[in-house]
Amino acid sequence: MNKKISNICCIGAGYVGGPTMAVIAHKCRNINVTVVDINEQRIREWNSENLENLPVYEPGLNEIVQDRRGKNLFFSTDIAEAIHKSEMIFISVNTPTKTYGIGKGMAADLKFVELCARTIGDEANGDKIVVEKSTLPVRTAESIRTILKSAGSKYEFEILSNPEFLAEGTAVADLYNPDRVLIGGDNTDAGKQAVDSLVNIYATWVPRERIITTNVWSSELSKLTANAFLAQRISSINAVSALCEKTGANVDEVASAIGADSRIGKKFLKSSVGFGGSCFQKDILNMVYLCRYFGIPEVADYWEQIIKLNDYQKSRFSRQIINSLFNTVSGKKISFLGWAFKKDTNDTRESPAIYVACDLLTDRAEIHIYDPKVRAEQISKDVKYLLEQRGFGKTETDELAALLHVYTEPYPAMDKAHAVAVLTEWDEFCTYDWKKIYENMKKPAFVFDGRNILDRDYLEKTGFNVKCVGG
Ligand code: NAD
Ligand code: UDX
Repeated sequence: MNKKISNICCIGAGYVGGPTMAVIAHKCRNINVTVVDINEQRIREWNSENLENLPVYEPGLNEIVQDRRGKNLFFSTDIAEAIHKSEMIFISVNTPTKTYGIGKGMAADLKFVELCARTIGDEANGDKIVVEKSTLPVRTAESIRTILKSAGSKYEFEILSNPEFLAEGTAVADLYNPDRVLIGGDNTDAGKQAVDSLVNIYATWVPRERIITTNVWSSELSKLTANAFLAQRISSINAVSALCEKTGANVDEVASAIGADSRIGKKFLKSSVGFGGSCFQKDILNMVYLCRYFGIPEVADYWEQIIKLNDYQKSRFSRQIINSLFNTVSGKKISFLGWAFKKDTNDTRESPAIYVACDLLTDRAEIHIYDPKVRAEQISKDVKYLLEQRGFGKTETDELAALLHVYTEPYPAMDKAHAVAVLTEWDEFCTYDWKKIYENMKKPAFVFDGRNILDRDYLEKTGFNVKCVGG
């Protein structure tokens, strides 16, 4: 297997493929990087002159794309050509939870990955290193290998697993300075050479001791396990938040006290309305599915509880709003600050805001939303999708979605509102003139801080009724 890599391509120009490849292009000027996608609009947006129109918002990303695009970073829909000219091909397509058939609602849908493998098999014009960048169930590399082989190609393929650990909102910083890079490969001569080729790319900027090499299965499973452990911490502290609300303990104080123990650590102990994002729920469900598939239901139940607790946390937040507003929100104006699943991203996948909005819409509240980065069409799409999932017909879904109002400025979104709910931890929310907001709201005025970011004492002195997660 040729070790010299001059051209790489990445299939999938999403939240992982785009930033990851932009950083590789930025750090490895001697490598041509082509990111391809079947979604023509996405590619048009990546090539857009106006950098504000890039499809992914990440701090620091625009600058890198501006620097490398057209030099050694290219975005294209010509997948075949990109495969022809690349010695190394990353697969970074989406692997959502299946919505049909066997494993519906649990297993990862691998149809996009399989299609990539078939395309690579059909188009290969030489030996290729195929890198799994998508998060995949353990042993997927075996299926990819079978598909590549059965394409009848006379060329050799090495399959590597190189899961991505970046978090959205900090993707560029995470890619520049990763805690570790994980590369799984076969323990054969060709496998080791392929691993070395990828190690050499990362070693351009990542210290060698942070580049971990393992066998393929360990690498695949480590990704699911890392996400399960991170999400488990959030569900654990959120479980404690419910107990705090009953007992008068303060969840932030508890988190800080336990986090001071170096064996526990401070990170991922921020109690919230619940975790969102495209990864945690999907990857844990996938883990649960695998455990059931391999006949270990006790282990499956253990991990599944993380998701159940997260669902409980989201619906608890909605119920708290309804209960506090005298058990009726019908016709009331409730303002949402934030729609993205976390700050510093425009991604809304699995955002807790969608769940809380649908709960309140079902009770006929009027929801007025401001998010600094999310577009109105996305918000409407998110809500309609979940309402339909919950069994509402088209007419009722449209009627409820008509109760959504999206703003491009924060203050009008809160004017004459009965309550404000903080759904995303955007920094700018803490800088608002909360006295002015209070004056323009209906009384009694409520704030439901689903992220525990606002200054509670100050808000209470201003006159607000304040409810935080955990008390
Ligand atoms: P995404 O939906 O943002 O992007 C995936 C892209 O792949 C889409 O643009 C889609 O059009 C494209 N695609 C699908 N099938 C294709 C095909 N056959 N040919 C060409 N393009 C195709 O997804 P994402 O968030 O970038 O996630 C990609 C993978 O990375 C997933 O497996 C995910 O679990 C994993 N991951 C995501 C994150 C994250 O923070 N988003 C972090 C780590 C790992
Ligand atoms: C996660 C993993 O962190 C990352 O390593 C992996 O590659 C992809 O999945 P991401 O989903 O982008 O990244 O963001 P993350 O920072 O993990 O936050 C996920 C959700 O948990 C967000 O909704 C966030 O608000 C919430 N969260 C996070 C909490 O509620 N409390 C915390 O302490 C941390």
